[in-house]
Amino acid sequence: MDRTHTCGELRAEHAGEKVCLQGWVWHRRDLGGLIFVDLRDRSGSVQLVFNPEEAAEAHVIAEEWRAEWVVLIEGEVAERPPETINEALPTGVVEVRVTRADTVAIAETPPFLIEEDSGALEDLRLKYRYLDLRRSPLQRVLRLRHKMSIAVRNYLDEQGFYEIETPILTRATPEGARDYLVPSRVNPGSFYALPQSPQLFKQLLMISGFDRYFQMARCFRDEDLRANRQPEFTQIDIEMSFVEPDDVLRVTEGMMRCLLEVAGLPADPEFPRMTFRAALDRFGSDAPDTRYGHELQDVTDIVRGCEFRAFSSVAESGGAVKALCWPGGGTAGRGRLDKLVELAKSQRAQGLVWVQHNEDGFKSPVAKFLGDEILSVLCEVTDTGQGDALLMVGDDWEIACLTLGAIRKKLAGWESWIPDDGSFNFCWILEFPLLEKSEEEGRMVARHHPFTSPHIDDLEMLESDAGAVRSLSYDLVLNGMELGGGSIRNSKDDIQRRVFTALGMAPEEAQSQFGFLLDAFKYGAPPHGGIAMGYDRIVMLLSGEKSLRSVTAFPKTASATDLMTAAPAAVDEEQLDALHIALDLPDGSGD
Ligand code: AMO
Repeated sequence: MDRTHTCGELRAEHAGEKVCLQGWVWHRRDLGGLIFVDLRDRSGSVQLVFNPEEAAEAHVIAEEWRAEWVVLIEGEVAERPPETINEALPTGVVEVRVTRADTVAIAETPPFLIEEDSGALEDLRLKYRYLDLRRSPLQRVLRLRHKMSIAVRNYLDEQGFYEIETPILTRATPEGARDYLVPSRVNPGSFYALPQSPQLFKQLLMISGFDRYFQMARCFRDEDLRANRQPEFTQIDIEMSFVEPDDVLRVTEGMMRCLLEVAGLPADPEFPRMTFRAALDRFGSDAPDTRYGHELQDVTDIVRGCEFRAFSSVAESGGAVKALCWPGGGTAGRGRLDKLVELAKSQRAQGLVWVQHNEDGFKSPVAKFLGDEILSVLCEVTDTGQGDALLMVGDDWEIACLTLGAIRKKLAGWESWIPDDGSFNFCWILEFPLLEKSEEEGRMVARHHPFTSPHIDDLEMLESDAGAVRSLSYDLVLNGMELGGGSIRNSKDDIQRRVFTALGMAPEEAQSQFGFLLDAFKYGAPPHGGIAMGYDRIVMLLSGEKSLRSVTAFPKTASATDLMTAAPAAVDEEQLDALHIALDLPDGSGD
């Protein structure tokens, strides 16, 4: 008999039907006479009953079964006696009285429990990922991931987008990470780069006249990994012609609403917009968590000219003094305050000034310099009452904002500021600076990527004050995490060349790296722009998971290894010879 049903679909209305099921033995309870087996497949599980008096042969076979054996049974669906109904299980009102049983494949005892919570360490689960994937949390999330990708495709198809694949073996596209390189055997000494994103191809598709493109694009970035970063990941990559930022934002909002609906979440969120400058000013972050308030305030004018030199000199030299009220911080101990000071220093701030406001007055290492009068004004404007603390950083505006932003985030954890109501707070951050100074490289680098258009109003500053130029870029942030980002592009070769120059790229270098793009602009390039949404991050946040590893079928560890296949791995000498590659490994590696 062929399989007639899946395990999880049986309900009361199937009572009396003869069924054939296949699946994995999940739990087996041998009660001496009767044997009960929970049979599991991806749809769920159902209880099987083996009665030696009704089907002696099947009962003997079931006596041998162990967890995770693959089996086949035939039997009849019956309603369970009321006292044995399992309300927690969708199939809990029925059981299958088995008439025939067969073992399809035996299994060794798995190295951990195939349960909702396996209790095993992640490394062990990653080594046996195919077993880990049998557990219901991963089955659920990968089903949701599939449903969401179908929804994305349907939505974008309805909006007039074509899905077009772009190459994996390609040239480097600068997105700020290192490339994964692939040597070319037939072109000795030459390498492909795996795409960090399909950025240039999607722009070229606009020049080809495709108007609206999307792709569930695999991207590869050799960068430091964290819970929300994998070396290979998926973007919902989008590009559109004849658009302004608002057009891209609206298409993206529609798509996010669709995805929320698929995930069974309230699908009518707001998408407030704020500029990069406002985000830093108010929240000290370009990816602010807006589920809680506790905004930063600017107190530069209050401390201007005060006796505390660290603040007054910052005010004189055009920096900023930012402040954050910590409700309840008035009684915080030295340990916590010191931790915040350390955090401030790790953000490159000169220091952190704290003022504890209590019944007996102000307590602060700098109280005598600021004086009671200024302290009172500071507390008043920042709403720092008795029992609270005021935290202040005076520095370059960006450093002051980012430092207090990091402190705001730390306090949110300590003080449980994040509401526990499952809220999803989106916000758009607009007009990022076009360029930023890279401390590492000691030069200007693109904040987004070099193909982003400068803000039209700032074009004139490109040569005179490049650091102040805003761009036509946008990021979508959800609950403090960047979900996606994009921009309107340079579609004219002269502006693109000026941006390359501002990045310190000589014309010959620009031509040799991106000549094909600059040439393409000469053949009728429409104005265009787009966005890329981190698909893994969307699935992670909408399914309530904490790590991309929990929403990726075969993820890599924090050191970019696959514990199951043991990739990356050494290769044969012969293979290296064919690629004309000689290794020069540092001591101790390759052991
Ligand atoms: P960007 O580099 O901002 O933009 O990437 C877009 C989104 O991709 C996700 N993402 C990642 N997800 C998992 N692991 C990673 N290592 C990782 N890196 C990035 C993030 C991010 O917001 N070409 C541009 C887009 C454009 O301009 O249209 C780009 O790739 O969610």
